[in-house]
Amino acid sequence: MSFRILYPSIRRCHLLHKGLTAVPVRYNADAQQIYRPYGKTGDGSYGSTLGKQNVGSVLPVRERILRLAQTIPFTDKDSAFNIADYGAADGSTAMAIFGELLATLKDHHGPDTQFQVIYEDSEMNDFNSLFKRMSGIIPDPPSYLLEMDNVYVLASGTNFYKQCVPSNSIHFMMSLASVHWLSKTPIFKDSIYKGDMSSAEETTALHKQAELDWETFLLSRSTELKRGGLLVVGVCAEFQDRNTGEKRYTLYSFVGLLNEVWKEYSESGKISREEFINTNMSTCCRTMEEVRKPFDERWSPVSRSGLNLLSAEAVVNPDVFYNDWREKKDNEGIDDRDDFARKYISAHRNWSNSTFMNGLSDSRSLEEKEQIVDGLYDDVEKRMSRMNPEIFKDDVKFIYIVIRKE
Ligand SMILES: C[S@@+](CC[C@H](N)C(=O)[O-])C[C@H]1O[C@@H](n2cnc3c(N)ncnc32)[C@H](O)[C@@H]1O
Repeated sequence: MSFRILYPSIRRCHLLHKGLTAVPVRYNADAQQIYRPYGKTGDGSYGSTLGKQNVGSVLPVRERILRLAQTIPFTDKDSAFNIADYGAADGSTAMAIFGELLATLKDHHGPDTQFQVIYEDSEMNDFNSLFKRMSGIIPDPPSYLLEMDNVYVLASGTNFYKQCVPSNSIHFMMSLASVHWLSKTPIFKDSIYKGDMSSAEETTALHKQAELDWETFLLSRSTELKRGGLLVVGVCAEFQDRNTGEKRYTLYSFVGLLNEVWKEYSESGKISREEFINTNMSTCCRTMEEVRKPFDERWSPVSRSGLNLLSAEAVVNPDVFYNDWREKKDNEGIDDRDDFARKYISAHRNWSNSTFMNGLSDSRSLEEKEQIVDGLYDDVEKRMSRMNPEIFKDDVKFIYIVIRKE
């Protein structure tokens, strides 16, 4: 019997892996089924919550970006040097690096060089905040546009699993903390993301989908890149814990807590079993091997498209909310676990809220859905504030790759 019969209401359900036990896949045909940032549109909520954590995630590749960008061929000075950010959110986290990149390239190619910066994200993204940030209406971080001439900013509300800009048009492109969002969601019956309870078929289906999406993403970018152009990607990672040998992934503790509380809601009847199954995270953290695979195979479509891997490294980025808690404890003697939990939840609700809202049945009113999801984050926050941050502390591990189009 397939899950299609067991769970007839899974929306837009198809089967992946015809050869293995069938695992249903939910197709994210509507963008709102994937990711909708939590917070009021136009309020800059991404930058003021999750952005606080993610603003530092470019640092491990900052110097390489600034050095290698100067090697990108740009001979036709009558045309524009094109820069793009995929999965840009409200532009807050790329503001500083793009400011530095533009300053470096202006020094290198001359002050009259014209630049086009394209911010790509899904059609549900908060582009209003992006433009308020670019114009300085939301002043922090300061917009590079306010002190630079000849820089033109555009937005593309599309889907990065398709071609988003004309072929052979971009010189430098970047995508940080975004490609773990998949185009389709393999379904886990007993957890919101893969875990100990997941079957081998479910786990295989997730990683197969991630492999297909990774290739699609890379081939689309390859078409868009100019020869000699660069692509820098920061990927949320899966890795083996050095101490325990356990498999861990970016934000392991947080996703585990969300799963624990949501599962209790399902067991107590607060949400239905069907709603629990409809609330799978549409994400996959990848291993180094998976990230490298399209490049290590010489005859893969990605290698044949001309993409060449210059570097790949795994980095553990600091958990800024844990660091704030630790500093306050060490410097002021205050062990403020409530503050840690509050800031942490406010940041990570930004990306995770829509998954829970989407999973709830459409027979519920919006108000009822919001009440349940508010309750979830309240319960997670309470549970977190009772935990020792030394134990909760999340691994924010990323794999960074730098690619050149030959
Ligand atoms: C966690 S945010 C990362 C934002 C920013 N790059 C950073 O590093 O802070 C992930 C972004 O990826 C976007 N995203 C997810 N799937 C996408 C898709 N298929 N096409 C375009 N954007 C997508 C989301 O809308 C979201 O803004």
